[in-house]
Amino acid sequence: MAILVTGGAGFIGSHTVVELQNAGYDVVVMDNLVNANSKCLKRVEAITGKKVPFYETDIRDREGLEEIFTKEKIDGVIHFAGLKAVGESVEKPWEYYDNNITGTLTLVDVMRKHGCKNIIFSSSATVYGDPAFVPITEECPKGTCTNPYGWTKSMLEQVLSDIQKADPEWNVVLLRYFNPIGAHKSGTIGENPNGIPNNLMPYITQVAVGKLQQLSVFGDDYDTPDGTGVRDYIHVVDLALGHVKALKKLEKGSGLNIYNLGTGNGYSVLDIVKNFEAATGKKIPYVIKGRRAGDIATCYASAAKAEKELGWKAQYGIKEMCEDSWRWQSQNPNGYDD
Ligand code: NAD
Ligand code: WQD
Repeated sequence: MAILVTGGAGFIGSHTVVELQNAGYDVVVMDNLVNANSKCLKRVEAITGKKVPFYETDIRDREGLEEIFTKEKIDGVIHFAGLKAVGESVEKPWEYYDNNITGTLTLVDVMRKHGCKNIIFSSSATVYGDPAFVPITEECPKGTCTNPYGWTKSMLEQVLSDIQKADPEWNVVLLRYFNPIGAHKSGTIGENPNGIPNNLMPYITQVAVGKLQQLSVFGDDYDTPDGTGVRDYIHVVDLALGHVKALKKLEKGSGLNIYNLGTGNGYSVLDIVKNFEAATGKKIPYVIKGRRAGDIATCYASAAKAEKELGWKAQYGIKEMCEDSWRWQSQNPNGYDD
């Protein structure tokens, strides 16, 4: 029996495929490569020494999914496939709702037709909106999202919860990721954003490698220790290992479960700059700019529930997150392009 990883050629998906294969799972990957490069999977194979069966298919393509579920014995799905650029989702809401929501509805329909009712879904801390309290526990009420991307996550959580409620044969784990950074220790796979990065760490690494001139720090007048935004950065390998633990939970037939995957530590933008400089010896010039629309001051997790129920706890600290992000960027200045 195999685990289907949708979006498995992407940043978090590829790291999760490594950890699944390391843990002995048979894995099948599907991805339409809209934000990925198939070379990534060759590198995954080099890391694990195992083949990664790959289908270049879209989650909205019912026939493509049918082919996978007919040919492979799929026991459960880890569902990463989706569009994730916050700003782009404001410009192209239809494309985001179609890709993420129509895609997931199609996937889930094909799954149930084939009697596969086990799914782990990539949700996000964004569903908490401006959080009612920190550290954020899973009981924290969901908030108002500031962009269509966030709404797709919030809505899909509801969709999957309702499907599970109506048919208790479904086992659903919703994982709310905080801010994934870092890369595999080999430096051969990592985050590969299209164009100018939106997220902090890839922006910093591109400044460090000389592709961008300086970092713009979006606001220094927040109610935080140094005035810049505070987030819970988590190493992508820790995140990947969280999926392996969640899969064990799913295998026990556990109904609906929701977990935060974060470290429980908050770092400001300037903390990240300082830690990156200390870990890599690279200077990051920056300029303070105005706040970015839709940003919140502070967001960090309580990771206690995942520790208690999944036996999962993030292992890597900020130093290794910075070192590993830099190893990937410096060894691959153009990502997967030669
Ligand atoms: P990513 O873009 O690297 O990975 C997503 C993958 O899905 C890509 O390889 C892309 O080609 C593929 N994909 C997109 N639409 C598809 C479709 N219609 N059919 C098939 N494949 C499709 O992003 P990531 O950072 O690895 O994120 C993985 C998941 O985790 C996403 O659902 C994302 O929303 C969620 N998430 C990411 C973050 C983050 O900060 N990176 C935080 C919280 C949640
Ligand atoms: C982190 C901090 C910025 C870039 C986003 C999504 C969220 C989730 C993770 C998917 C903030 C500041 C950033 C820059 C900066 N993705 N910053 N200069 O906004 O916490 O979360 O990615 O689900 O949904 O919204 O992450 O890395 O963009 O920003 O000063 O050039 O860095 O203002 O305080 P964010 P981020």
